[in-house]
Amino acid sequence: MYPIEVQNVTKRFGEIVAVNNVSFNVRKGEIFSLLGPNGAGKTTLVNIITCQLNPDGGTCKVFGMDVTKKQKEIKRLIGFCPQEIVLYDFLSARENLKFFADLYNLPSKEAKTRIEEMLSLVGLSSRADDKIRTYSGGMKRRLNIAAAFLHDPQILILDEPTTGLDPSSRRAIWDLITTFKEEGKTVLMSTHYMDEAESLSNRVAIMDQGKIIALDTPKKLKKMLEEKSAIQLECRKLTKKAVEELSKISTTHKVAVKENLIRIVVKDVDETLPKAIEIALKNGAWIEKAIVLEPTLEDVFIKLTGKTLEGE
Ligand SMILES: Nc1ncnc2c1ncn2[C@@H]1O[C@H](COP(=O)(O)OP(=O)(O)OP(=O)(O)O)[C@@H](O)[C@H]1O
Ligand SMILES: [Mg+2]
Repeated sequence: MYPIEVQNVTKRFGEIVAVNNVSFNVRKGEIFSLLGPNGAGKTTLVNIITCQLNPDGGTCKVFGMDVTKKQKEIKRLIGFCPQEIVLYDFLSARENLKFFADLYNLPSKEAKTRIEEMLSLVGLSSRADDKIRTYSGGMKRRLNIAAAFLHDPQILILDEPTTGLDPSSRRAIWDLITTFKEEGKTVLMSTHYMDEAESLSNRVAIMDQGKIIALDTPKKLKKMLEEKSAIQLECRKLTKKAVEELSKISTTHKVAVKENLIRIVVKDVDETLPKAIEIALKNGAWIEKAIVLEPTLEDVFIKLTGKTLEGE
């Protein structure tokens, strides 16, 4: 039994098929991302899994329980952070968390300890008694995530957890998500940031127009674009002989040279990098920097759909 099982799920809004016959399982202890542009159907799917929206077709189960039948039981097991922030502006952070603790029926003694733990976890202890209306966007989002963690759920479901945040807030949230996963728990999140999906997730489902168009580990998804991987050597001195020999290990048998910089397209970058360095050194080049240029999940999305994640 998987923590989340989605089978042939479809959801329509009038003419629009927001989710179109989607199937996947989320495994215990993994971070699973739904990556897709605006309107791909991520929120609709997340709302179905969190028992807020019934599917028109197919089945969705959380720990084996049908989302249309066992809402109460399921809601106890999942911590949910929606795309739109839900907090009471006129209450403080501590009061907001108290409200959520009551919602989850946490015994008051346990609630008290958990609230303090969560405030400290998201770095808001010193601002805990300030009203939410005085909070920045990033602080609100951190508090919203704290609310999702409050009842110690088994599954964390986050809809675009870092949209609009600055780099340091994003990193703080990534750390929270990773720590949760390291406790053996399960994470399902949606994002339209390919770097977020790539660096956090064990597996990524790429969504477009209601469908999952690819699903695998970030590494395997990028393998689809192997022909785009390259090694770049920045040299203090680059010899003709080195260029000649390096072109022999390239999959295209050609190299791009610009002043003292050489770029070699190869199939298995990790394996070929030491070989390329050795060849360059043997043939009189002085290397200052060696880097691997790998395709990104954005490149994968472009290859599959012909457009970028921003929808251009
Ligand atoms: N309540 C609704 N009524 C009508 N159409 C809806 C409703 N909710 C979503 N849709 C439509 O379903 C499609 C998928 O929307 P959804 O919000 O699931 O996308 P998303 O991937 O979460 O996008 P975003 O990245 O912008 O949050 C869109 O075309 C949207 O207009
Ligand atoms: Mg959305």
